[in-house]
Amino acid sequence: MSPKKVAPKKEGAGGGPVPRRRRSGAIAWFAWRSWASFPFPSAQDKPNPGKATHENKPPPPSGSHFSYWIIIMNSSHSSSGKKVVVITGSSSGIGAEAARYFAGQGWRVAATMRHPEKYPRVFEDKLITTFKLDVTEPDNIGPAIDKIISEFGKIDVLVNNAGYGVLGPLESLSDEQIRLQFETNLFGLIRVTQAVLPHMRLARSGTIINISSVGGRMAFPLFSVYHSTKFAVEGLTESIRYELKPFGIRVKLVEPGGIKTDFGTRSITKVNSAPYQRMIDKTLGLLEKASGRLPGPQAVAKTIFRAATDQGYRLRYPVHHQPYFLLNSLLPDLLWRRFLESVFTAS
Ligand SMILES: NC(=O)c1ccc[n+]([C@@H]2O[C@H](COP(=O)([O-])OP(=O)(O)OC[C@H]3O[C@@H](n4cnc5c(N)ncnc54)[C@H](OP(=O)(O)O)[C@@H]3O)[C@@H](O)[C@H]2O)c1
Repeated sequence: MSPKKVAPKKEGAGGGPVPRRRRSGAIAWFAWRSWASFPFPSAQDKPNPGKATHENKPPPPSGSHFSYWIIIMNSSHSSSGKKVVVITGSSSGIGAEAARYFAGQGWRVAATMRHPEKYPRVFEDKLITTFKLDVTEPDNIGPAIDKIISEFGKIDVLVNNAGYGVLGPLESLSDEQIRLQFETNLFGLIRVTQAVLPHMRLARSGTIINISSVGGRMAFPLFSVYHSTKFAVEGLTESIRYELKPFGIRVKLVEPGGIKTDFGTRSITKVNSAPYQRMIDKTLGLLEKASGRLPGPQAVAKTIFRAATDQGYRLRYPVHHQPYFLLNSLLPDLLWRRFLESVFTAS
């Protein structure tokens, strides 16, 4: 039922005290309006990409007011009419595959990476432009997003993909290793999201896709800090999904299982530690054994595209790890933990 149908009665002329029955009616109507519009947006809150007005405008993202007005003017129309996606960490693996997939569907792709000079020929497609963006360097994020906006006129979708893993017992991790893991997988994601949000809020549309992991829903030994970042990404995403829906911004989680990319090789920081060495060697052996059987990143790229285009507010999109979830949901908690112990820690 639309809340508009329950229109409030007008106050009597003269502005005198409102009779009790009418006052409680007004309170009931107000309560109904408040309830009905939370967390679902009212009609005027619904996304309307064509109606980017200057009302409720965000603070200037960075740079001068002049560049802000250029951004506003650009955000009301896209020069090519093509959808625009920004992807972080797109030099390899899931990010690179997603960039190619979106371009294959006719999207303009801002493929961001921390060292574009190292990957001059990573993309052949003319729809893909590379931009320098290191998610751990706060000062380069705003300017990179402004550059993308001034080149493409808008951002329809942001894919927060940049990430890596630390493998090692918590006891042996240095403060620096822990901090860098959080800087990259969590704080970087937050900063890029904060830089993009004013543009999406102004356009009253947009989709943010955070690449989480099976490790954002369940934990395995020796990945404690990686899991901490991905569990945090899950909580953050779930929370802002409600926060941003009234602005027509959709927020989603793509949760891959084991995927064959550079993640298992150069994107894992391995920390050895004598007391834990047996467990570390066993885990590395398991990862090594599994790596030959892992699927490539194509299905993840497809899932990211589906999450970007399905027009719904579905939160989670698991890819290639349904067996873990199935087992986790079927087994009682104690049995699930015994099972993981037998896989990782039993001799
Ligand atoms: N592969 C899996 O099994 C798996 C499973 C679940 C979730 N994931 C998640 O998927 C995402 C992508 O990983 P992947 O599997 O595609 O591994 P990958 O091939 O190693 O890609 C990781 C990407 O992140 C980038 N990156 C690292 N630190 C960065 C920083 N400070 N700023 C910007 N970019 C940075 C890397 O850039 P450089 O080239 O500069 O190093 C690289 O492009 C990660 O968030 C990971 O947690 C992967």
